Amino acid sequence: MPEAIFQFPAGFLWGTATSAHQVEGNNKNNSWWKWESEPGRIRQGHTSGVACDWWGGRWKEDLERAQAAGQNAHRFSVEWSRIQPSPERWDDDALDHYRQMLLFMHQHEMTPMVTLHHFTDPLWLMEMGGWESEAVPRLFQKYARRVAEALGDLVKLWTPINEPNVYMFSGYFEGTFPPGKRDSKSGFTALTNMVKAHAAAYDAIHEVQPEAEVGISIHYRSLQPQSSWSPLDKWIAGVQWHAFNDAFPLAFATGTLKLLNMQAAIPEAVDRMDFTGVQYYTRELVTFILDPRNTFGRRTFPEDAARSTTGFIADVPAGMFEALKWAKAFRKPIYVTENGVEDEDDSLRPRYIVEHIHQTWRAANFNYRIKGYFYWSLVDNFEWERGWTQRFGLWGLDVETQQRIHRRSVDVYAAICRDNGISSQMVGSLVPEIFSKLFPG
Ligand code: GAL
Repeated sequence: MPEAIFQFPAGFLWGTATSAHQVEGNNKNNSWWKWESEPGRIRQGHTSGVACDWWGGRWKEDLERAQAAGQNAHRFSVEWSRIQPSPERWDDDALDHYRQMLLFMHQHEMTPMVTLHHFTDPLWLMEMGGWESEAVPRLFQKYARRVAEALGDLVKLWTPINEPNVYMFSGYFEGTFPPGKRDSKSGFTALTNMVKAHAAAYDAIHEVQPEAEVGISIHYRSLQPQSSWSPLDKWIAGVQWHAFNDAFPLAFATGTLKLLNMQAAIPEAVDRMDFTGVQYYTRELVTFILDPRNTFGRRTFPEDAARSTTGFIADVPAGMFEALKWAKAFRKPIYVTENGVEDEDDSLRPRYIVEHIHQTWRAANFNYRIKGYFYWSLVDNFEWERGWTQRFGLWGLDVETQQRIHRRSVDVYAAICRDNGISSQMVGSLVPEIFSKLFPG
């Protein structure tokens, strides 16, 4: 028997998250495959290639491992460019592939959560102007309806669009994702269409499947002023915080999308979300600088926080509580739809996982309606413009041989899933470096 345990509510979902392009391989008909072929786009010229070979069937062994390690849920995405390879054609074989995955999850008592759009777009959509095209909400609705009709009997939880805020900032402000623009007006148009498309998909899914739960998935970044006494730091941190975190979800509460000095009325968005999916990774401190190209702010990590292998993430568990507190204001059930760290040698990940889940537990104990947690990711996969240089998996991946590598984090997370909580026994034996912090004498 454990001596002490941070216990979660009964029925809590414990899973991992993946996305189609990052794990399937050979997604040749989408914006990212093309992007990867262009020089200078991806770190070290990496390409997704066969990725984790899920399209070749390896999803089965990975999900089997996940289930054997105590997980009772999995969040994954279906690939639009496979399901609708051209505007007039639907591919039933592709839908059947996802159906097989869902059947497998049901047989293994794993609750699925399905995302319809995770950063990638069919090439035909890009040729029409991508998310800047006025046609996209209607096209996305058609696609959502088709998927719900084909798979809805096996899926209740949907997150139509993954991290619209990251898609917009990376694709239209920083230019690191397709379409590679640096134009805030186009970004605003794309985000407006994402709000409309989410609302349209929400309606279509509910028409097909009234009992469905359709949520948003938003990347929450804990953006804080570098110095709390500087009015300029405070101001710019607030501006960036609102633009990045709050703009998209707020549109579903108010019916108006407000981003920086731009604004659009989208009345059809009101209340089109059944839950809030929060994706939290890190905190950044914002300093005011006289540079409009960087929206007047420079962002750095808190100095006292441990860094991930490539310096991409600072380990700040308190930001998780902050994210959940923020999400609570939307008055919907909450899922942590992603949280994770890149850590090739798995030296930081075990304590990162435990401490972030501990903060989630604190929030659950304040009676926030938190219903599940999905670690990003099940196995190392293709990390967008960072290629294969970052390793987020519970399991490692040898990209050449496709061999999976067992990490200490697998056992840490498995114990949490099985105990439905964090036990002192588990922390004492697997993550002793934080024992006294979590269970003080
Ligand atoms: C998220 C994204 C995932 C994954 C993760 C780690 O923003 O949804 O696809 O890349 O970051 O970088």
